[in-house]
Amino acid sequence: MNLNVNFCGINFPNPTVLASGYLGVTGASLINCVNHGCGGVTGKTLFLEERSGHPNPTVLTFQGGIINAIGLCGEGVKNAGHEFEKYKEANPDNPLIGSVGGGNMEALVECAQIMDSYPVDLIELNFSCPNVHDEMGRPFACDPKMTFDATTAVRKVTKKPISVKLSPNVSNIGLIAKQAEAAGADAITAVNTMGPGMLIDIHMRRPVLANKVGGVGGYAITPIALRCVYDIYKAVQIPIIGTGGVITGENAIAMLMAGASLLGIGSAIAYYDMTAFEMITDKIRAFMKEEGFNDVSELVGLAHQ
Ligand SMILES: Cc1cc2nc3c(=O)[nH]c(=O)nc-3n(C[C@H](O)[C@H](O)[C@H](O)COP(=O)(O)O)c2cc1C
Repeated sequence: MNLNVNFCGINFPNPTVLASGYLGVTGASLINCVNHGCGGVTGKTLFLEERSGHPNPTVLTFQGGIINAIGLCGEGVKNAGHEFEKYKEANPDNPLIGSVGGGNMEALVECAQIMDSYPVDLIELNFSCPNVHDEMGRPFACDPKMTFDATTAVRKVTKKPISVKLSPNVSNIGLIAKQAEAAGADAITAVNTMGPGMLIDIHMRRPVLANKVGGVGGYAITPIALRCVYDIYKAVQIPIIGTGGVITGENAIAMLMAGASLLGIGSAIAYYDMTAFEMITDKIRAFMKEEGFNDVSELVGLAHQ
């Protein structure tokens, strides 16, 4: 039985990939994910300069999922190379995805150019964070033309495969994905968190997050993420990293059937700790055995019959 995935010419030993922002800050934490069975890892989104993010509290779980307003904190792309090198020295066989963002086109392009010089296998363009509107304005992924222009600009500065990370907060995600594809993207990552949303502490009588609002992930967005990936699969030819609400083995299989080739694993780590990767891969393997599939690629897009 084959669980290997060839994604943009890169071999992933299984379809699970650490989603950006979860644990992926240092080389050591990325290596730890691989040691727990994930097929590949995505680093936290990096910007050109160091960012401190929003004040605490920034992440909360609730019955239906997770809300976060981390605010894209990070050391800045210029300072991150050594962590990627550390990871690659330890794990040359597990692909590494470097995530970049930018408040404007020039900063994004410079950031991608620096990321290109690091030993990453694929560059993910985070066009879709919902909790930095005040600072950065509308994410590129909420506008077809901005998605096209930003992807085109990055395409000129790197030959590495690019995946554009889209937002569920749009009325036609297929159209946005098409713009990314037309501008030269090799893949789509879908989706980022939904929202922004809010939780209120009724005793304190105020929003719980210091930022008041944050992006929502986890079970709350499973049906939304599935529908987004389904729509994108219909709209484009390039492969998809299906992310959002992939918590259980069943969710993961559904995400493959919606059209994802790889599975971004985020909130599942909050529910299952580091066992999430193996639990999901084991469930996919068992399902394939029960249902007579030989290659995981046979599941991709099956819900479109
Ligand atoms: C605490 C936290 C930090 C995140 N940071 C990033 C980030 O830096 N870049 C990014 O593209 N997405 C980020 N995300 C979004 C996740 O990568 C993922 O797209 C989203 O949470 C949906 O997946 P899930 O339902 O499995 O959590 C973050 C999510 C959380 C909860």
